[in-house]
Amino acid sequence: MRQIKFRADQSTVSLQTDTRLLDALLAHQVPVKMVCGGRGLCATCHVYVTAGEASLTPASQREQLALSVLTGAQSNSRLSCQARVIGDGVEVALPDGMYVESFTELESLIGQRTSMPILHPVTGETLVEANKIIIRSSIMQLKDVDFSIGDVGTSRA
Ligand code: FES
Repeated sequence: MRQIKFRADQSTVSLQTDTRLLDALLAHQVPVKMVCGGRGLCATCHVYVTAGEASLTPASQREQLALSVLTGAQSNSRLSCQARVIGDGVEVALPDGMYVESFTELESLIGQRTSMPILHPVTGETLVEANKIIIRSSIMQLKDVDFSIGDVGTSRA
């Protein structure tokens, strides 16, 4: 058994060796998504490993490539769907923000004040800054943003 700790609330969770980090987060109801189905193609499972990086399997070239185009990625970034826990002492923190999966989901937030940045699900780019009231006229400029997996960097507004 291994343990990982979440920086947000300092809670820990036990898991079997070689468990995907993403699975441990989801089992602990940490608000991560897996828009690409765990294929290493999106930003929604992005985490910062704040301790115990050596207790995770190394990042593959594919993961490194995905992280290289991810807004907000740092040297301690990992895609949690690609990292398996093989040792103790792993601590993770989530990027500040909420991922939306489509323009329709963004529209559903009209009239609400964002408590955190609203992020693109593939690139991690900030679509709406924190503490803004989402109004239709301000998000219409995002109508042509491409939310699809696999088309990173194309058809962007
Ligand atoms: S779920 Fe998409 S990269 Fe991990």
